[in-house]
Amino acid sequence: MRRIQDVDAYNKCMLLRVDFNVAAENGKAMEKFKIESCRETLKYLLDKNAKVALISHLGRPNGRYDKEFSFKNIVGSISSILKIPVKFCDDIVGDKVREGLNKLKSGQVLLLENVRFHSGEESNDENFARQLAENFDIFVNDAFSVCHRNQASVTGVAKILPGLAGFRLQKEIENLDKVKNNPEQPAVAIIGGAKTETKLPLINKFKEEYKYILVGGKVANEALDQKIKFSSQVVLPEDFEESQLDIGPRTIKKFTEIISTAKTIVWNGPMGKFEVPPFDKGTRAILSAVVSSGAFSLVGGGESVQVLEQENMIDKISFVSTGGGAMLEYLSGNPLPGIDVLRN
Ligand code: 3PG
Repeated sequence: MRRIQDVDAYNKCMLLRVDFNVAAENGKAMEKFKIESCRETLKYLLDKNAKVALISHLGRPNGRYDKEFSFKNIVGSISSILKIPVKFCDDIVGDKVREGLNKLKSGQVLLLENVRFHSGEESNDENFARQLAENFDIFVNDAFSVCHRNQASVTGVAKILPGLAGFRLQKEIENLDKVKNNPEQPAVAIIGGAKTETKLPLINKFKEEYKYILVGGKVANEALDQKIKFSSQVVLPEDFEESQLDIGPRTIKKFTEIISTAKTIVWNGPMGKFEVPPFDKGTRAILSAVVSSGAFSLVGGGESVQVLEQENMIDKISFVSTGGGAMLEYLSGNPLPGIDVLRN
């Protein structure tokens, strides 16, 4: 990948793709970790005296303005999380963006309005990508979690401006590659959560190199209900709590024993309906087993990261990926358009 440190960013005008697609409550952004992940890149660019506009999507507003998904609601909260003055521009392209950039003082950054308010974003319209590009010299992508989307602010604009990978994006690939290719053995994958159709390809891929694949959450329930046949490395729950809302004590014990032998652990998705206690017990027990194992641990997926944030455990994991769908796609061996475009 072309990298941010390989070009002269001094005094340049930069369009920085971030992923601020976070849950919000009363003007407060709830997923600090995802927002904070662009800080290193941002600081680097500001130190080079570059002018920086941040661009992101928020939710799925279907190509039109929707007050609920405006960044205006959470720009203050984003600014406090980043510990940088963040100005807001209530447009995505055109004169307002240019004016906003001109008015920026040293050390300030400009957050553009939700890019998915424009229908050209999701359709990856070339004209829209040109408009996105017109006020900038360089495009930097630091949003691994959206690299599986072939959209204007991810791939379209990177075909027009020189496109570079930010520090966070580089770290994501480096760490995901560590667990994807030749992981240190014994390697254990833990797969939970919902969206079975996205998890089955990953289970299939992991069977090539992983000694154990522990499956919990809704994926396990559906696999058992549908009597899906797996290879011998796949370990399904032996027991459940009430109505299959969490894995049961025998399963916790078995999973914990296996995790304690691991040298590499990848985890995506909770073991049960963790947001409703007491069905968080399995997920918390597995988290504590992962932390005490001493293995290289990589955790990703919105819900898993939420558990880590709630428990203040982010620092106890070797690498926490910002990617949900993007992480599953990458580890399953599928190409990510947002990364490929930075390679050509
Ligand atoms: C995510 O939250 O996983 C990314 O921001 C991608 O969002 P999307 O699934 O709406 O494209």
